[in-house]
Parts: sequence; structure tokens; C-alpha cells
Amino acid sequence: MSLQNQRILVVGGSSGIGFGAAEAAAHAGATVTIASRSKQKVDAAIERLGHGAEGYVLDTTDEHGIETFFADRQPFDHIVISAASTKVAAIRELPLADAYASMNSKFWGAYRIARAAKINRGGSLTFVSGFLSIRPKKGAAIQGAINAGLEGLTRGLALEFAPVRVNCVSPGLVMTEMYDGLAGDARGQMFEGAAERLPAGLVGIPQHLAIQILAFMTNPFITGSTVYVDGGGAIG
Ligand SMILES: NC(=O)c1ccc[n+]([C@@H]2O[C@H](COP(=O)([O-])OP(=O)(O)OC[C@H]3O[C@@H](n4cnc5c(N)ncnc54)[C@H](OP(=O)(O)O)[C@@H]3O)[C@@H](O)[C@H]2O)c1
Repeated sequence: MSLQNQRILVVGGSSGIGFGAAEAAAHAGATVTIASRSKQKVDAAIERLGHGAEGYVLDTTDEHGIETFFADRQPFDHIVISAASTKVAAIRELPLADAYASMNSKFWGAYRIARAAKINRGGSLTFVSGFLSIRPKKGAAIQGAINAGLEGLTRGLALEFAPVRVNCVSPGLVMTEMYDGLAGDARGQMFEGAAERLPAGLVGIPQHLAIQILAFMTNPFITGSTVYVDGGGAIG
């Protein structure tokens, strides 16, 4: 999968799934730009990426900042949006403000980027949702709703943005920095338990998602699709 001479932007590329996608794209020859909120994380990530990668501080909740970011730049060939910071709890326990903030970060954040982005003809836009969109879980209804919203947005924008292609990758449990807040034991037990339950017999790593994200970039016959890269989590 060559991405030679392709300009790629990964919003949320300073860690986890976004970083995995940025790294795979850089190895495939792309010129990679990443963006996220923390300058420290962005700087550390571009150093790890090498290959002349560039990084910018950008918050997907900042409408003006997003518009300025794209106004100042040439169009990209492919854009990936993995940026999100969400709080999840049962509906009566999660304060409404946190529910709104989660939707604002993950759904509206992706929507704002999609609305402002400039993408070359033949290029692609990839959203990152999550398998709770189709596999409900008690205490995570808001997350399922956000993910389902993104998957619906994918299909609508694939029509609006054609011939730019729009797709969505929907991960299951993936070992990323998102779980750094859990104590070592709890994190290890969660991953081990999931690996035993999942039909694939393992927990995901960012590289598993990157394979699909690069397929979306390079296969000209995929648009409007959501692909579940979840170890069988949606069915298991
Ligand atoms: N890992 C999983 O098990 C899993 C499962 C299902 C779905 N997902 C979804 O996959 C996506 C990526 O998750 P991940 O595991 O890769 O998480 P992660 O390692 O925490 O990465 C999230 C990235 O988004 C950036 N970010 C967060 N809020 C942002 C904002 N408002 N504006 C710009 N950048 C922002 C973070 O950097 P800064 O802190 O610098 O902003 C970071 O680069 C998320 O949508 C998540 O819900 C993950």
C-alpha cells in the first residue's frame, strides 16, 4: 500500500489508534501531519514518527481554530479523525454536562473537522467510532449513541463529499494510552479477560486498526462503509 506523495492528516494522531495510523502512513511513504490538544504530546509523537512528520496543536471543540487551520493549508489527500475524549457512565449517573461534552468532543469534533476540511479529489476521510454502536452495553449508552451517530454521518457524507470517499473504522477493545488512567492490575485484568472472551482470542493493538485505515485510503472502491475491527466483539 504505497502512499508516496500523499499528504495525510491525523487529528488525534499524538497517541493510540491515531498514532498507529500516522506511523503506518509514514512507513508507506506519506507526508504526515498530526494534530491534537497537547503540544507536549504532539512534539513527542512527531519525534517518534520521524519521516519529516509535522504536528500542530488543535482542539476539535474549537470551531474557529479548526477553520483557521484549514484556511492556512493546502488540501490533504487523506484525513483521519481519531480525536476524542469522552466520559461514560449510566444515564442517571453521568451529569448532563459530561454527556454533552462527550458528544461535543467525539461526534461534533469529527463533524467540525469534516465540515472545514479540504480534501483532494480521489482522497478520503476516515472516522473512528466504536463497536458499542451496534453492541449495546449497560452504562455506556451515550458512547453507543455517539458511535452510531458517526457511522450514520459516514454514509451521508460519502454521498455529499463524493468523489472524496468517506468511511468509518469501528474498533473493539484496543490497547492504547486511553487506558493509562487504570491501575496496572486492573488494566491487565481487563485486557486478559477480554482476550479470553473475544472470538479472535486477543485484544487489539493500534496496528490492527491502521491496516484498515490504510485500506480505506488506498482502495478506491470503498466509500460509505463502516468496518468493525473488534476481534469479534460485536458478535461475541
Ligand atoms: N482504545 C479502545 O479500546 C477504543 C475502543 C473503541 C473506540 N475507540 C475510539 O477510538 C478513538 C481513538 O481512541 P484511542 O484509544 O486511540 O485514544 P487515545 O490514545 O486517548 O488517543 C486520543 C487522541 O485524541 C486526542 N484528542 C482528544 N481530545 C481531543 C480534542 N478535543 N481535540 C483534538 N485532539 C484530541 C488526544 O491527544 P490530546 O490529549 O493531545 O488532545 C490523542 O491524540 C476514540 O474515538 C475512541 O473512543 C477506542
